[in-house]
Amino acid sequence: MRDGLLELLMNKNDFVSGQEIADTLGISRNAVWKAVESIRREGCEVEAVTGRGYRIVNTDGAFGENSIKSALTGKWLGSETVFFSEIDSTNDEVRRRAEKGAAEGLLIVADSQMSGKGRRGRKWQNPKGTNIAMSFLLKPGFSPDTAPMLTLIMAMAAADGISKVTGLDVGIKWPNDIVINGKKAVGILTEMIAEPDYIHYVIIGTGINVNTRSFPEEISSTATSLYLETGRTWPRALITGLTAGAFENYYDVFKKTGTLAGLVDDYNRMCVNAGKRVTVLDPKGKYEAEAAGINEKGELIVHKDDGETVNVYAGEVSVRGIYGYV
Ligand code: BTN
Repeated sequence: MRDGLLELLMNKNDFVSGQEIADTLGISRNAVWKAVESIRREGCEVEAVTGRGYRIVNTDGAFGENSIKSALTGKWLGSETVFFSEIDSTNDEVRRRAEKGAAEGLLIVADSQMSGKGRRGRKWQNPKGTNIAMSFLLKPGFSPDTAPMLTLIMAMAAADGISKVTGLDVGIKWPNDIVINGKKAVGILTEMIAEPDYIHYVIIGTGINVNTRSFPEEISSTATSLYLETGRTWPRALITGLTAGAFENYYDVFKKTGTLAGLVDDYNRMCVNAGKRVTVLDPKGKYEAEAAGINEKGELIVHKDDGETVNVYAGEVSVRGIYGYV
């Protein structure tokens, strides 16, 4: 499934000969030409010079099925990729297709969502031409209590995808908000269809604020975008592809044990709360503590001031930095 054309051209940042592309991607010269044409049609500017090859001039505007497939780097996530310029919700589209028997790895991406869903019944704004709305289908053979861990893995993957492309210092506010300079740039909504002891399927939906230039007043103090952090636009197809590829790698590690055992250190390195004072908003009463990092179940280990250590479960409590959101 791996295409990787976009990634290859972006990494080289110079002319790459048709032959080198063909050899690297394991496709024919003719297929290279076709692939270049397909991403051009979606707005990707590729220069072609006889004797030198192809060079990416600008990919920021390109966002569609071909440019996303061109940026995918994994083996199965995105083996079926469908792009919509407008849809109600990418999570809902995955669900509809899952009900008709879609395979694990189905990836739905949209330019804009009319009824984008946030966590806890909130809305997620997704105006045209600016952000990424992506959702994919998983069928993990584990018990339903593993599902929250998948959200943490998704956060790691999105952090990787964003930092690889932009070079920004991207952190995770436990459990799954991606933060840059203390503001939220990504939201993740995991939905699961399951019986008490058996997962039918899981939908992981991710919204990445890429090229948004302003936010509504009520969220402007806590929300940010890659554009606002850097003052330039960024290629959405590439971020989508690299994020999906990173998820695949982390998920493969997760599947070995059905826990985050192999990923705890990576997660804690990215976690902005690790080693910091936090306010734990427990429904039974909020308290301050020092966060140590997550355990292999994805719970946040916190040391209370009275010496007690508590493993905080994401579904039950949330955490704030003592000075605000992070
Ligand atoms: C949050 O509240 O932080 C979660 C937001 C999740 C938004 C994404 S955008 C793609 C996918 N489709 C949806 O309707 N929601 C998720």
